[in-house]
Amino acid sequence: MAALRVGLVGWRAGAFLPGLVAAGAVVAAVCELEPGRRRALGEAAGVPPNHRLDRYEDLLDAGLDAVALGTPMHLHAPQAVAALDGGLHVLSEVTAAVSFGQCRDLGRAALAAARTGRVYMLAENYCYSRQNVLVRELVRRGAFGTVYYAEGEYLHDVKDMHHNTDGSPTWRHHWQVGRNGCTYGTHSLGPVMQWLTAADPADRPDRVARVSCLGSGRHTDPEHAMEDTVILCCQLASGRLVRIRLDMLSNRPDAPTNYTLQGTAGAYESARAAGETDRVFFCTEQEGGRRWRPLESYASALPAWYRDGWPPAAGSGHGGADFFVARDFVRACRAEIPVSIGIEDAVNWTAAELVSQESIARGGMPLAVPSLSALLSAKLTPPAPRSEPHAGCGAGGERPVVVSDPGAPGVPQLVMRAPAALLAAAGVRDVPPGFAVRQALDADAPDLARLLSGAFGGGWDADRVRRDLLEAGDVTATFVVTMRAEGSERLVATASDREVPDRFPGAGYLHWVAADPAMAGSGLGAAASLAAIVHSQAGGARDMVLETDDHRLPAVATYLALGFAPEYRDPSDPARWAAVFRALAAGRRSTRTAAAVARL
Ligand SMILES: NC(=O)c1ccc[n+]([C@@H]2O[C@H](COP(=O)([O-])OP(=O)(O)OC[C@H]3O[C@@H](n4cnc5c(N)ncnc54)[C@H](O)[C@@H]3O)[C@@H](O)[C@H]2O)c1
Repeated sequence: MAALRVGLVGWRAGAFLPGLVAAGAVVAAVCELEPGRRRALGEAAGVPPNHRLDRYEDLLDAGLDAVALGTPMHLHAPQAVAALDGGLHVLSEVTAAVSFGQCRDLGRAALAAARTGRVYMLAENYCYSRQNVLVRELVRRGAFGTVYYAEGEYLHDVKDMHHNTDGSPTWRHHWQVGRNGCTYGTHSLGPVMQWLTAADPADRPDRVARVSCLGSGRHTDPEHAMEDTVILCCQLASGRLVRIRLDMLSNRPDAPTNYTLQGTAGAYESARAAGETDRVFFCTEQEGGRRWRPLESYASALPAWYRDGWPPAAGSGHGGADFFVARDFVRACRAEIPVSIGIEDAVNWTAAELVSQESIARGGMPLAVPSLSALLSAKLTPPAPRSEPHAGCGAGGERPVVVSDPGAPGVPQLVMRAPAALLAAAGVRDVPPGFAVRQALDADAPDLARLLSGAFGGGWDADRVRRDLLEAGDVTATFVVTMRAEGSERLVATASDREVPDRFPGAGYLHWVAADPAMAGSGLGAAASLAAIVHSQAGGARDMVLETDDHRLPAVATYLALGFAPEYRDPSDPARWAAVFRALAAGRRSTRTAAAVARL
């Protein structure tokens, strides 16, 4: 087999040289803007002067099979897309991209390239450090039981990298600390995401589903937009929790590899300072009390690929991690192993960073992280305002309690969202005795019209039910809850599953939820909703969204109980949701008061 011909792009790509060469690849060209670095990189890689280039376009024409990108962050995605579209494999430094648009373009190019056997790999070398590989292997063997919580911290004072010697700003000034949020989180997030999905291959698709980000304020070097310390809370689609701390500004010794892992049967804590040791605790070894043991005492569990690769890796950067990254990349290009950190992970971890910037700007609001498929079909425009007065969901036949005026022109409905798997798993599937849930039939149209008119106030007839629900192209299923009484069947609740890909790509949309007012409080609207959610999840939706109005308090209470959370999309949302929660609390208080009075 001919050796893989690789081009190194940017000075940092030189870190991959030992691993590339050890895996049998040939570095055939280098590209670097700065002449001194270009010469040094070319000499180190043994590249002849005519293949030491300063234009990336020329490198792409140099007859290569692959590129390794070590350029500044904002160039990774465009350079990767150009290479993938040109039929090359790509190894890219972190982070994968600096905008959702870049994520989308990269995702599209990487998925298209994968169909022709081309590889995109994120060079997240912290996933390859000895400790992190060993912890991952111990997770895989079940030593920690079910793992459900992890922490990662990147505390690295790089203030001296924000300006060139002439005082001009570097790319880090703009892309790392020039924006607020967790802009450089994959060194922390990458390893812990691998741990949390290592135990069961079925968990692999797990991803960061929503994040909340808060900062400490600007104190040490306040010229930057980034707050000194930024905390990112990540909820995975499976419900597991991750906490990331990023600090590139505070005055302190570096600690870029702090990690914690918690499982049902054990825990891990990395060393935080010189002189400390990485340590584990396993419930199975409790004799003599709950004691930590050195992680290194389990070194025999290191996988063979790591132990065999260690002698040549020993002198390479980041404790040998750069070597293993490059070696795995070459092996994946040759289809000898699967890609270890592919486009799904790269985009998810990067998208979590990008959403963190939105969250911190909104005071730490939990915000959904779009999946790769969502990004691919997204227009990446702000949500459209509500187009018709009653579009979306209502529930029950409650008397409207107007909290704000959602009908005002241009005011969008409130949006709620949750991972579909969480909703489906948490929901109570059984309906009360005497009731049943089934898909709606054409013959149900007149009864559905009566039910929807009762809940939403007129405007429904059998024709509209057929047009808007039963025969609508975007409604994938309508469910009804029926009550059997004296040989006849009565429709008492309904909910539909809809697709709205232009506004909620990749998500199911809970549509037109209604319940018979006479049955209020029986959980029938929730039962119909759950049927639609389960249907949507079975159809591949990762998230479920719905839209509702500020005044539909019983409906909002039902959705909250099902597991939906507010999604803040419009600047007016925080105040509107605060009013909704105040009104719900006031409603609970008056109910309790009425019950107390009734007991007198
Ligand atoms: N994984 C890790 O542990 C790790 C460590 C350091 C840096 N990085 C990443 O590596 C990248 C580079 O970081 P750095 O510290 O080396 O930055 P740097 O500023 O020191 O070096 C960037 C180099 O890229 C060159 N360059 C810029 N545009 C180019 C282009 N179009 N074509 C070719 N070369 C170009 C510049 O001349 C410069 O030499 C960043 O994305 C950073 O996040 C990762």
